[in-house]
Amino acid sequence: MTSVDSNQVDELFQKALLVQKNAHAPYSGYHVASSVLMDDGKIYTGVNVENASYGGTVCAERTAIFKAISEGAKKIKAILVLIDQKDPWPPCGFCLQVISEFAEADTPVILANNNKEMKNVTLKDLLPMAFSLNLS
Ligand code: THU
Repeated sequence: MTSVDSNQVDELFQKALLVQKNAHAPYSGYHVASSVLMDDGKIYTGVNVENASYGGTVCAERTAIFKAISEGAKKIKAILVLIDQKDPWPPCGFCLQVISEFAEADTPVILANNNKEMKNVTLKDLLPMAFSLNLS
């Protein structure tokens, strides 16, 4: 059973809040930030990076995860998504699939807004029948 304590959640929130201003969102106007606690004990952050060719946009969650994996971290212990909207957002389908590549069914996914209102769910709540390739 994976879990995070309230200090870790607080740190995830603060780190996401710090980078949210770096979101490149001239097209949608939505400023999304994400922070991931990895198995190396570090927290990596990311923001949404939009593109004039809309399909080139990368979500905040994938930015954070790809940064972490690039630095050698292997497993997601918890992930937080911060949005500058009233109701926190769940990760999109693409991001859920990417989270699922590096996380377990019970990995905490924390959905937050800028008022520090948070909803704590698990990956399984959001992606109950995850696609994966059995490589063994
Ligand atoms: N976005 C994210 O960063 N994460 C999600 O899980 C959903 C969507 C971004 C992509 C785009 O820049 C904006 O939010 C509107 O879709």
